[in-house]
Amino acid sequence: MVIMTRIITVASGKGGVGKTTLVSNLATALASLKKSVIAVDGNLTTANLGIHLGIPLYPVTLHDVLNGDARLNDAMYYHPAGFTVLPADISLRKLRLANSHELVDIFYKLVGGCDFILVDSAAGLGKEALAAVEASDELITITNPELPALTDALKLSNLANRFGTHNLGVVVNRVRNTKHEFSLPAVEEFLELPILGKIPEDHEVSKAISRKQPVVMHNPKAAASQHIMSIAAKLIGEEYTPRTPLTTKLFGWLK
Ligand SMILES: Nc1ncnc2c1ncn2[C@@H]1O[C@H](COP(=O)(O)OP(=O)(O)O)[C@@H](O)[C@H]1O
Ligand SMILES: [Mg+2]
Repeated sequence: MVIMTRIITVASGKGGVGKTTLVSNLATALASLKKSVIAVDGNLTTANLGIHLGIPLYPVTLHDVLNGDARLNDAMYYHPAGFTVLPADISLRKLRLANSHELVDIFYKLVGGCDFILVDSAAGLGKEALAAVEASDELITITNPELPALTDALKLSNLANRFGTHNLGVVVNRVRNTKHEFSLPAVEEFLELPILGKIPEDHEVSKAISRKQPVVMHNPKAAASQHIMSIAAKLIGEEYTPRTPLTTKLFGWLK
């Protein structure tokens, strides 16, 4: 049976907004929804998908494959959360960029073998980040609800249109519901993109990262995990209503 593989890049423009967190957790969430996923580190200069996932010192990486020193299969690792990881190298030794053609060649080899290829892109709107956007069919834009991140996301969105990469929508990360941040409708209007979902500011995320685990695996009941599950469900056309922990609800009432 031939599987239709969706190739989706997660990009942001601005750095540090939560790309790698989203990729590692969407992979976990989709795996729990019975989808097969390959998470690819498209961030070859400052790779950190492997670090988020707890195996920073991969013996063979995407760098070796691109350099012609290893076969693709040798650089793929099965994560206990139920998906496959194609990591990049964290050492300076093999530092290099990949162009979009090289990435397309890699994706072609993987297409048909999984439901999703999720690509963690580099920060910025330079060659490296754009190579991943260009090589993918679909894009998830991630931003924080603040103007500096939003202006970069807008530029990214315009560039994606030029490449013909379908912009699925925006994930708003680190939502704190303060009066200074952009509301979801304001983000939607600013970017002219549908909201795929939001992820609240949640200390369980940093706790999970320090344990080198996706938060969806580390603490499935955490507010962030619940919202990531609902984003994953939306991607496959299913419904998932985030369950708010009772303590959060109580705290909300008290406020
Ligand atoms: N929803 C969240 N709640 C709290 N902290 C978060 C959240 N999302 C991300 N972070 C923090 O932000 C940092 C940067 O996230 P990361 O996914 O590495 O960003 P990027 O890949 O875009 O550079 C993480 O180390 C984590 O501590
Ligand atoms: Mg990152």
